[in-house]
Amino acid sequence: MDALTEMNVRENVQMCRTQEEREEIREVIRMQNINKSYQMGEQSLHVLKNVSLTVNRGEYLAILGPSGSGKSTLMNIIGCMDVMDEGSYHLDGVEIGHAKEKELAGIRNQKIGFIFQKYHLIPTYNVLQNIVMPLLMRGMGLKEAEEASMNVIELLGLKERIRHKPNELSGGQQQRVAIARALVGQPTILLADEPTGALDGNSGKEVLKLFANLNDMGNTIVMITHDSNVAKHAGRAMRIVDGEIVENSI
Ligand SMILES: Nc1ncnc2c1ncn2[C@@H]1O[C@H](COP(=O)(O)OP(=O)(O)OP(=O)(O)O)[C@@H](O)[C@H]1O
Ligand SMILES: [Mg+2]
Repeated sequence: MDALTEMNVRENVQMCRTQEEREEIREVIRMQNINKSYQMGEQSLHVLKNVSLTVNRGEYLAILGPSGSGKSTLMNIIGCMDVMDEGSYHLDGVEIGHAKEKELAGIRNQKIGFIFQKYHLIPTYNVLQNIVMPLLMRGMGLKEAEEASMNVIELLGLKERIRHKPNELSGGQQQRVAIARALVGQPTILLADEPTGALDGNSGKEVLKLFANLNDMGNTIVMITHDSNVAKHAGRAMRIVDGEIVENSI
């Protein structure tokens, strides 16, 4: 099939979808009444209370809240690293609630790019080896994965550093490696948990500028922070307090 015919077929498929189906696909995240508790001995700690959240493709959302409010718990559920007790969660139109661990691992690898406060790079691997990791996990060969990584390596300004180990880099550079690793598989959504929390002011600003550029390029981003100045950089912000969404736009 030539490219033009393929495009026509794709367009027709799009047109055949019902309004509802198109809406659902526009929504990268659709959570309704999520509840999550942790069992601590005899006691149950109710961490997320009827959380509902929708994120559209191309949005940049900040989730703002104090320490212990449930931000990371929510992020772990969004990122399919943990499961909810109750509620419904659709990620890119797929119901996550009933997925098994093996399916969740596949969804994480294909759809989610994670960025953490403390980078979580593999210390014995160099920059390039860290960045190609998600592609190797998909079964791509090393050479192909390295070639496929070159665009993000250039985008993140890491070309001169690919043979460095994480401990030979500054915090800001390590976070850029983590961002490159999150981006390399072209995930549906980027999830960042306090991405500037471990960085000095200037490196933090650089990361926020980078996020704004990535969002301009069409990437969907959800960022967690306890800092309202950081949240201001997102297109939309919501506040979570004691496991409840208290303000949907700040
Ligand atoms: N695995 C766990 N087992 C038991 N309790 C947990 C677990 N993970 C988190 N909690 C508790 O759930 C609550 C919410 O934790 P969470 O990590 O989501 O908060 P947070 O908003 O990310 O905080 P911070 O800003 O400090 O990172 C806290 O009271 C925490 O102690
Ligand atoms: Mg946290």
